[in-house]
Amino acid sequence: MTTKHWPYPRVVAHRGGGTLAPENTLAALDTGARFGLKMIEFDAKLSADDIVFLLHDDTVDRTSNGRGAAAKLRYDEIAALDAGSWRDARFAGERMPTLEQVAARCAVLGLAANVEIKPCAGRDAQTGRLVAEAAARLWPEVPLLPLLSSFSYDALAAARDAAPALPRGLLFDAVPADWRAQTGALECVSLHANHRELNEKLVAQIKAAGLSILAYTVNDPERARLLGAWGVDSICTDRIDLIGADFFDPA
Ligand code: G3P
Ligand code: MG
Repeated sequence: MTTKHWPYPRVVAHRGGGTLAPENTLAALDTGARFGLKMIEFDAKLSADDIVFLLHDDTVDRTSNGRGAAAKLRYDEIAALDAGSWRDARFAGERMPTLEQVAARCAVLGLAANVEIKPCAGRDAQTGRLVAEAAARLWPEVPLLPLLSSFSYDALAAARDAAPALPRGLLFDAVPADWRAQTGALECVSLHANHRELNEKLVAQIKAAGLSILAYTVNDPERARLLGAWGVDSICTDRIDLIGADFFDPA
């Protein structure tokens, strides 16, 4: 079987703007767009009062001036935190944005989105459902539907049930032996894998199963080139300064 049409850009900015901006903020999206990227990846989870917002970790400690588990903080408490100063003083005052704010900024900047569903422990299905419902409501169908992904099978299953029309990719670190069964049951369009766990043969097998491949987090241009030669469709990178939007298709 040949890979189905993959409409997404081949280079995706990890956490919005890679390492050049505070991750998962509107400033990160602005940075991704300023570097010419056409697609961004970011991590979405639920506050204690079920607002979908952007944060990678289970706690706000590393990427803000606050402390505590995201699952225990209301969004008004989260929104009061500074999520930019930890990265650089010039980003002081950046917030952890809601998915709604992110969708609006993507529309303004013309960015396609890979929404990684990143549930807090024990909230997999609820997070998958609420993120998918919000994404379906907030993003227009054109030019590109948001691509939902998750390491959590249960979150992606709930996303499939809540918003079946949104494309899905199952995330793996190492690709397990039953990747066909898992991606099949979730009706995925893509498999997303740690690039270190991919090899030419595995890429060919995944593509032969009709799935597209997104490899993360690829920061070495030589490695990106090799993955592209193997048939990897898109890469997610922190180094948007080294691996630009036209990396695979120079003008
Ligand atoms: O979606 C690709 C990548 O973001 C997965 O790893 O931990 O950076 O969310 P992580
Ligand atoms: Mg992520």
